[in-house]
Amino acid sequence: MERIKTGLKGIDHFTGGLPQGKTVLITGNAGSGKTIFGLQFALSSCRQNLKTVYITTEEDSKDLYTQGTSFGWDIKSFTENGLLSIIELAGIRARVTEAEISIDAEAMKGNFSSFLKDLPEDTEAVVIDNIGSYTAKLTPYEFRDRFDLLIYELKQRNITSLVILDSATSKEFNEIALFSVYGAIKLMKRENPYTGRRERVMDFVKMRSTKIPTQFLTYEINENGIQIISSVEGKD
Ligand SMILES: Nc1ncnc2c1ncn2[C@@H]1O[C@H](COP(=O)(O)OP(=O)(O)O)[C@@H](O)[C@H]1O
Ligand SMILES: [Mg+2]
Repeated sequence: MERIKTGLKGIDHFTGGLPQGKTVLITGNAGSGKTIFGLQFALSSCRQNLKTVYITTEEDSKDLYTQGTSFGWDIKSFTENGLLSIIELAGIRARVTEAEISIDAEAMKGNFSSFLKDLPEDTEAVVIDNIGSYTAKLTPYEFRDRFDLLIYELKQRNITSLVILDSATSKEFNEIALFSVYGAIKLMKRENPYTGRRERVMDFVKMRSTKIPTQFLTYEINENGIQIISSVEGKD
């Protein structure tokens, strides 16, 4: 299976990268680094010469440029050369009137895959950050239906994707999402049992056809973005 490098060395070294044409779910609390992970992947995908789209439902593109700049990442060079497109759904929601907001919400409620209708035909990689923004009014059945359809359509279009779902979204929805996707990574904080210090760790919950670490991978968010710091057992 072809692999797309995530841009996180520790992960790429162990797994070879994300499975091409499949969807990986990123979950975690606010501040756990989901957006940074998404950006890091989007830039890495551009560096692999893939047409990449970043769909943001919360931040506007300016926030993303600012975040990237804090790590010395030149997001603009990729948006300018056309490899990277940023679609702002947050901006749309902010601009419309009350009446239009409910129409927009209704569209989103009916269909997550409306995220995909504006994607250029030749899109090869997508980040959706964060699908949790549109789940508030859904029943679990509706959520499962819409989410499955989204994953199905991404797969039909052979798009390698990262779908971000925050932990503010119910545990039940997080569990439903976990079933549909090809792979899932959970970002969290925990207390190190030996040092008593809190640290950031990621859990490779699943990834089909891929060797994944059984242990938590410890990571930092530092001046370079997300950096895996644990040395993984089995790594050569
Ligand atoms: N330049 C930086 N250097 C170090 N840490 C940073 C930097 N920029 C952001 N962070 C850390 O990243 C966290 C936000 O990550 P983010 O990806 O936005 O989280 P999420 O999308 O999961 O809510 C911040 O809480 C901060 O701790
Ligand atoms: Mg975020």
